[in-house]
Amino acid sequence: MKRIAVLTSGGDAPGMNAAIRAVVRSAIYNGMEVYGIRRGYAGLLSADFVEMDLRTVGDIIHRGGTILRTARSEEFKTPEGMEKALENLKTLGIEGLVVIGGDGSFRGAIELSKRGVATIGIPATIDNDIPFTDYSIGFDTAINTVVEAVNKIRDTATSHERTFIIEVMGRESGHIALYSGLACGAETILVPEIPYTIEDVCEKVVTGLKRGKLHTIIILAEGAGNAFDVGKKIKDITGFETRVTVLGHLQRGGTPTAFDRILASQMGGKAVELLKSGLSNKMVGWVRGELVVTDLEKILTTQKTFNKELFELANILSI
Ligand code: F6P
Repeated sequence: MKRIAVLTSGGDAPGMNAAIRAVVRSAIYNGMEVYGIRRGYAGLLSADFVEMDLRTVGDIIHRGGTILRTARSEEFKTPEGMEKALENLKTLGIEGLVVIGGDGSFRGAIELSKRGVATIGIPATIDNDIPFTDYSIGFDTAINTVVEAVNKIRDTATSHERTFIIEVMGRESGHIALYSGLACGAETILVPEIPYTIEDVCEKVVTGLKRGKLHTIIILAEGAGNAFDVGKKIKDITGFETRVTVLGHLQRGGTPTAFDRILASQMGGKAVELLKSGLSNKMVGWVRGELVVTDLEKILTTQKTFNKELFELANILSI
């Protein structure tokens, strides 16, 4: 394999740049030429390619976001879009593609692979909702961002003896809420994977305050309800003052943690190694401290398991 390309797609995640750097430098080290595709699959259709050399990825390992930019492309999903993408890759003589993104991005990689382009996926999303990898790039940074924010909110929560509902990202998954909630010692964690009733939430607030807790921190995944509704209902039922903070896109930015940089570097290096050895249609994951390679199709047909034991533990520790 002489020439490969790399793109980032879907929501940006801290550590994507470290992964781009690792792909580019490993490929050059292995005697390949590398192109960056700007704005994900949209750039693949508009032939927005840029040749990458060692310097183009200098000084980016510590930067959040993605130097290649990212986008969601509807046109790429059409037969005409796919034709155009293949033509653009062929014109430049690109034989392999590394796709850095979430499961939606891997769908495109599978289609390209079926049509003869060798593709390797690298999981990058703060949601950490991709199966066959314990961590996706960006998750560790995101939960640390939440912890830092909640540390500050706690000061006010304690001073005013208030109940705070803090909404974190995760439209369909509660991994950010669970991990950050456990790390913050949150009284309650609400996630889409586990049903809850507002009455139970209120009971825990009341019991905690009765036994001398100075505040209540509730971490709510965005997919588990509206934070303002939850806050209002708690106030109506218990009479306690509530406040809401929606952390939003704050969680997607910022300098990646050392963990995310190391994970991204390892995955980027491995992706190039897989392309070099002729593999395609695979994702590089990280399971129990080791790099693991899985068929991309399996990623799309498997649901990532929610760690119920950790959820139970968080509940026990916050009694
Ligand atoms: O998938 C990552 C994510 O940050 C989700 O947690 C969130 O629901 C969504 O992206 C927001 O997407 P957008 O930035 O397109 O509004």
